Amino acid sequence: MTFLHASEMRGGYGSGADILHGCTLTVQKGEIAVIVGPNGAGKSTAMKAVFGMLNLREGHVHLGGEDITQLSPQERVYKGMGFVPQTHNIFPTMTVRENLEMGAFIRNDDVEETIEQVYELFPAVKDKRNQNAGELSGGQRQQVAVGRALMTQPKLLMLDEPTAGVSPIVMDELFDRIIEVARTGISILMVEQNARQALEIADKGYVLVQGANAYTDTGAALLANPEVRRTFLGG
Ligand SMILES: Nc1ncnc2c1ncn2[C@@H]1O[C@H](COP(=O)(O)OP(=O)(O)OP(=O)(O)O)[C@@H](O)[C@H]1O
Ligand SMILES: [Mg+2]
Repeated sequence: MTFLHASEMRGGYGSGADILHGCTLTVQKGEIAVIVGPNGAGKSTAMKAVFGMLNLREGHVHLGGEDITQLSPQERVYKGMGFVPQTHNIFPTMTVRENLEMGAFIRNDDVEETIEQVYELFPAVKDKRNQNAGELSGGQRQQVAVGRALMTQPKLLMLDEPTAGVSPIVMDELFDRIIEVARTGISILMVEQNARQALEIADKGYVLVQGANAYTDTGAALLANPEVRRTFLGG
């Protein structure tokens, strides 16, 4: 079942020039979709467009069959989107637990069970729950950021470079956790700088160049594509 369908998105920042030139992204239920591409290709901009932080001049965003193109980011959270931005994705001077509680801002019900689920997924987050998030290692901060986004119980989890600045071991671990999340039926849309490793766990991959889709295929097919390998994966 197609869960996210963002079609032919065109738009830029404010009244500035277009950054996205007809970008299309689709994610099925429980699937991991990965966006790769050179710096400045518009990967983060595409994520922001899906989340409603950009005024689209053309194109639509459908979630679960519903047209949400006109909705604000907060309204999209209510519809089931969770977003971890590339930068400033935690509150460094608040404790880890407070970060999770902040993540649950739209909920009026008891969030304790969800906090326990996050602790189960990321034991390090539990261990550090009373420390300020700013004191944690890069990998642990990213876990807090993902955990915070999970607090709204999203159906689509959007991650912009979740493994930025972490060691290869921590990256593998984080990818394993992301696979675990997807197995619960949550769709994942993720931007990754570690293109090769990310495509290995991707059901679907998008190579974005200058705000448009250059290649779209299964992760495995993109990894096997000689042109993609040569141009975007370092051979
Ligand atoms: N807030 C902003 N206002 C104006 N232009 C912006 C803004 N953010 C990004 N841009 C521009 O949009 C283009 C695409 O940037 P974007 O951050 O989406 O690329 P990216 O693919 O995520 O790059 P990276 O791999 O470095 O994260 C760039 O030319 C950038 O300068
Ligand atoms: Mg980016």
